[in-house]
Amino acid sequence: MNFSEKMCECAERVEKAILQWTPPETARPAELHRAMRYSLCAGGKRIRPALLLAAAETFPSALDPLPACVALECLHTYTLIHDDLPCMDNSDLRRGRPSCHKQFREDLALLAGDALLTHAFALLAEAYAGTPEIAVGLIRDLADAAGSRRLIGGQVEDTIGERGELTPERLDFIHENKTAALLEAALTMGFRLGACGGNAELLKKAHEIGHCTGIAFQIVDDLLDLTSDAETMGKPVHADADNRKLTYPGLHGMENSRKHANELTARAVALCEEIGGNNAFLTELVRALATRKS
Ligand code: IPE
Ligand code: IPE
Ligand code: MG
Ligand code: MG
Ligand code: MG
Repeated sequence: MNFSEKMCECAERVEKAILQWTPPETARPAELHRAMRYSLCAGGKRIRPALLLAAAETFPSALDPLPACVALECLHTYTLIHDDLPCMDNSDLRRGRPSCHKQFREDLALLAGDALLTHAFALLAEAYAGTPEIAVGLIRDLADAAGSRRLIGGQVEDTIGERGELTPERLDFIHENKTAALLEAALTMGFRLGACGGNAELLKKAHEIGHCTGIAFQIVDDLLDLTSDAETMGKPVHADADNRKLTYPGLHGMENSRKHANELTARAVALCEEIGGNNAFLTELVRALATRKS
């Protein structure tokens, strides 16, 4: 199987698992569950679950990584629903469809996001109940990444950044937290589920791979906002300038941004190689994210 076939296979497995591990649309209140599935099933790139699967297969174990992939994608999708709200980035298009608050009402979109966030943790607790130490580790990984010091902290500074000081230090804080935190969680959760379990040294490396890959991912997102189009991206472009966002190309220029994304990717690839094991897919995925077009 070549790399793009493997990515398609990952997305298919994750999409099937989403249907299996999230409430059906018919469950009461049906409108809420429809809104959750509307955003979840809109066909995101499934990068975070792919990273989790790639990390888990580096040292394979008997544990099923798919529920953790679904939890991660629920959490990520909640951040996108809330990120698009009029009080945040005010974005009407997401994953090639009207944003959740455009398709449903704003109040329902807010609640669908809340429900996806909560579901992520309930699912980890339920699916890994047979291995409590792993379950607690996964819950901690995701909670630490998604909490007030990290993802939400990054979103806060990103929003305040629209009117605050434009310093490189603030930009690094935003990227490290609003985006890299969740990619770090994808990696550590994957390794935790693999045969290396809680090996502290490996988890530290996993963290750093996620950190470098995550910052590069957000730099590329900022670059694509300048250079791509809405059809390719499935979301509006030139939105950062319209919202006066602090971005990497805005502060350091396009050429330096590309260079820095490539350096971070090279560091992440080197770490993947150091880790060894069955690392071919992980290494290729980390490399491919730097040159993605959407
Ligand atoms: C979008 O993430 C938000 C960022 C952190 C840039 P993705 O680009 O992974 O979005 P989907 O999941 O493919 O829709
Ligand atoms: C989003 O960053 C990060 C989170 C949702 C946590 P952006 O605001 O740059 O993401 P897009 O460009 O809307 O996908
Ligand atoms: Mg935003
Ligand atoms: Mg946004
Ligand atoms: Mg963006």
